[in-house]
Amino acid sequence: MTAHTPPKTYRVKSFGCQMNVYDGERMAELLSQKGITPAPEGEDADLVVLNTCHIREKAAEKVYSDIGRLVKAGREAGKEPLIAVAGCVAQAEGEEIMARAPAVSMVVGPQAYHRLGDMIDRAVAGERATDTDMPEDAKFAALPKRRKVGPSAFLTIQEGCDKFCTYCVVPYTRGAEISRPFNDLLREAQILLEAGAIEITLLGQNVNAWTGVDDTGRDIGFDALVRALAALPDLKRIRYTTSHPNDVTEGMIAMHGEVDKLMPYLHLPVQSGSDRVLKAMNRRHTARGYLKLLDRFREARPDIALSGDFIVGFPGETEAEFAETLALVDAVKYAAAFSFKYSPRPGTPAATMDGQIAREVMEERLARLQNALNRDQYAFNTASVGKTCEVLVERRGKLPGQWLGKSPWLQSVFFTGDAAIGDLVRVELVEAGPNSLAGRVLERVSA
Ligand code: 5AD
Ligand code: SF4
Repeated sequence: MTAHTPPKTYRVKSFGCQMNVYDGERMAELLSQKGITPAPEGEDADLVVLNTCHIREKAAEKVYSDIGRLVKAGREAGKEPLIAVAGCVAQAEGEEIMARAPAVSMVVGPQAYHRLGDMIDRAVAGERATDTDMPEDAKFAALPKRRKVGPSAFLTIQEGCDKFCTYCVVPYTRGAEISRPFNDLLREAQILLEAGAIEITLLGQNVNAWTGVDDTGRDIGFDALVRALAALPDLKRIRYTTSHPNDVTEGMIAMHGEVDKLMPYLHLPVQSGSDRVLKAMNRRHTARGYLKLLDRFREARPDIALSGDFIVGFPGETEAEFAETLALVDAVKYAAAFSFKYSPRPGTPAATMDGQIAREVMEERLARLQNALNRDQYAFNTASVGKTCEVLVERRGKLPGQWLGKSPWLQSVFFTGDAAIGDLVRVELVEAGPNSLAGRVLERVSA
């Protein structure tokens, strides 16, 4: 590896989940603090961080093709960009990346990226470094203070997973479940509010598995954290994702009926409607148990928008078992959902199970499932027409004078009128599309 000139500009490319988006933002802040500035749109950066996702197939392959593209673009421009691979592919395949991609000078796992600054100095000196240690919670304390954020900000409160669903790499790439301390979270929330946030989305692989200790030394759960955050006067909206059915508590259901700032939206993955498949997935809940939980949430908050994740074509899934997933979808009527073809992940138990399903079968099932989910999403949007709600303005729309924001139910709402980014605007929902709604402004609630 040759020595580099110190990078002046950077670009962080994040793939995958919102946790990665959060990590990407924090890495960007760290680089800015080091005096490196974001590369202008359309220009090559001196330092590129590929913040990767490993949850489904081809993610790793995508990394190699991205690296190839960067090297080629660099060669054409007569320079050699510094390349860092971060995120879950880095954690899972760090050694392999170093061996296969000589252009990569840094491999940094999701628990180690607070040390990226040092790694850059070493890379500039011509050294290649891998850091995929998983020390508990060290990174958050070591990251710089957040200065400027948009109106809707992410706050990671919990990381990792101890559930070991048989298809999933997360327990291997993100490690065991850890919760960030209560006081650290209140402090970071306050900093986010001072930096411009109005809404905070609490993040975690199993966000509702969060546990902590409050100021009085009492053990508290996720619902107490939400209630404590709701007491911050400048915070107007709270969301969270992703929850696990087995970590739902009475308090968590109740808070949806009691905490006004908590938005009426719940992302609760189920993966399958078949108990046989759920067992093989090691989900440790049944379809009926899941439906009962949703009933309870709906009792607490009748207008709650429900969302979920699904996997089709898990090894051994029969047509009849897939039909049980469709039946569950029909019963729930989701407002939104994410659905995926099963993807065998190296090192997970399901990857070597008998009965791997042919790609065409998975594709056909996924198309049927997505048809049903899209139908329900459109129906949910259509049923919202005529309602009045507050929309948090997040950015400008494509048309002149148009704004785009989110309804309490996380729908994208377009409207034209007098507004600014960060406003809460009272809007009447007047027209529904499959993925968004049109609104008519009634009044600016806050500026
Ligand atoms: N194949 C397909 N989908 C997966 N997910 C997790 N692992 C896999 C896999 N191996 C999906 C699950 C999870 C979401 C984040 O990604 O639905 O809830
Ligand atoms: Fe993966 Fe299951 Fe953990 Fe979710 S709960 S991160 S799907 S192992």
